[in-house]
Amino acid sequence: MNIQVSNEPLSAVDVDALVVVVRERAEGESGVKGAAAAAADQATAGWISELLASGEFTGKALDIAILPRPAGLKAKKLVAIGGGKEADPRRIAGAAVRALKAKKVASVALALDEAGEGQAAAAVEGAILGGWEPDAHKTAGKCTDRITSFTLLCADGDAVQAGIRRGRIVAESQNFTRDLVNEPGNRLTPTGLADHARQVASEFGLECDVLNGDRMKQLGMGALLGVAMGSAEPPALIVLKYKPEGHALEGNLGLVGKGVTFDTGGISIKPSEGMEKMKYDMAGGAAVLGAMRALAQLKPRVAVTALIPAVENMPGDRAQRPGDIVYTLNGKTVEVLNTDAEGRLILCDALEYAKRLGCTHLVDAATLTGAIVVALGYVNVGMFTNHDGFRDALLGASKAAGEKMWPMPLDEDYKDLLKSAFADLANIGGRWGGAISAAWFLKEFADPLPWIHLDIAGTAWIEDGKPFLSKGPSGVGVRSFVELAMRWGG
Ligand code: BES
Ligand code: MN
Ligand code: ZN
Repeated sequence: MNIQVSNEPLSAVDVDALVVVVRERAEGESGVKGAAAAAADQATAGWISELLASGEFTGKALDIAILPRPAGLKAKKLVAIGGGKEADPRRIAGAAVRALKAKKVASVALALDEAGEGQAAAAVEGAILGGWEPDAHKTAGKCTDRITSFTLLCADGDAVQAGIRRGRIVAESQNFTRDLVNEPGNRLTPTGLADHARQVASEFGLECDVLNGDRMKQLGMGALLGVAMGSAEPPALIVLKYKPEGHALEGNLGLVGKGVTFDTGGISIKPSEGMEKMKYDMAGGAAVLGAMRALAQLKPRVAVTALIPAVENMPGDRAQRPGDIVYTLNGKTVEVLNTDAEGRLILCDALEYAKRLGCTHLVDAATLTGAIVVALGYVNVGMFTNHDGFRDALLGASKAAGEKMWPMPLDEDYKDLLKSAFADLANIGGRWGGAISAAWFLKEFADPLPWIHLDIAGTAWIEDGKPFLSKGPSGVGVRSFVELAMRWGG
């Protein structure tokens, strides 16, 4: 997608579709809200006013009305898109791109009412994310409609150009994450994920180290190895390092992502219905990898270390059994009461290893529990922490990045859920508060470092598709991680 800025008057913009944002009117308000929308209304002798008067279009978020061959404009179509009460440029650009590519449009111009770095970046992100389809493996019926040119209509300048560059890098990295998550278990194994990490490292300039099973054994990563036992596919602990050049800020941000390339549940096997979706159980790891791909280009001033424990969770004659006791890297023992609670078992060894590599702050992302989907549905990422200040930093970053996250409790009172009669910890905490006991398990290995756990089980996969994003992997986490590192120390 070619992306450029133009300062031309609306009437002169020569594109297939010219998009203006019409904001919703509050009770008693009149006129067309939004500067570009008002200008387009004038140029078309009141088309938008008429739409609003008829009630057919109210400016409700992401509603779309199209005027073909608008008389006063050079563009082939004028598109009014609802901005709702507060317009998110990502959603608007994404919804416009998705609606228009279905109509064989190739070039789109979007008029921005406010033109700063953040607005430009967000619009570009929305356009590139809206262009993505999960059709990598379709040989027929592939979506061939592509928007090849996207123009931002606003005053040009360094801030807008910086926003475009940043938006492109972030969104392309998020789409890279979505492509990985979309890969099925037969095509993306732990070894395959490690190959992708090596490729990113050599293309964009990161250090990469992949620990194999032998090194895990030498180190004593018994929990991670226990999960890997049932699969013929060898495990991998992927480590990527970004180091700032010149004057670095204090700290080393550790990003840890669950990389279960397929989760059958193991011996505690899952029901077959819906099991195909468990190819997305590496979405946390893929988000961390996507964020590193972007950060290697955007060069924040803080060091960032990514760790992705990658395994396939399978039943089999070598698989770990319910009741097995494993020795974790940090020395705590765990009774594996349910082999399907495998995410925490691989993450606990990765968290301890992150400490040994010198991380000062930890954020993990994992499709960890069905319980978080019960609690928060498909809308918010569940956020757990042992450090309120660090949590607020990530909340601020996620808000700016347009990713919804919601703080969950982690009181001492929940700790007892993980009691085991035979080991230091059990790997499950019973039926109620399942997302919280899972988070408590991780906390046992992250303490005392400032740490945040993101349960993305409900948000990493979009079940029905949205006006601005297709069905399939969302790539959630990438934008917040990038934003957190970029505003480090600020
Ligand atoms: N990968 C699953 C979590 C999951 C479930 C993600 C549904 C997306 C949708 C995880 O490994 C798992 O199986 N968790 C169990 C834990 C339980 C055995 C304590 C769960 O949530 O059922
Ligand atoms: Mn599982
Ligand atoms: Zn899992």
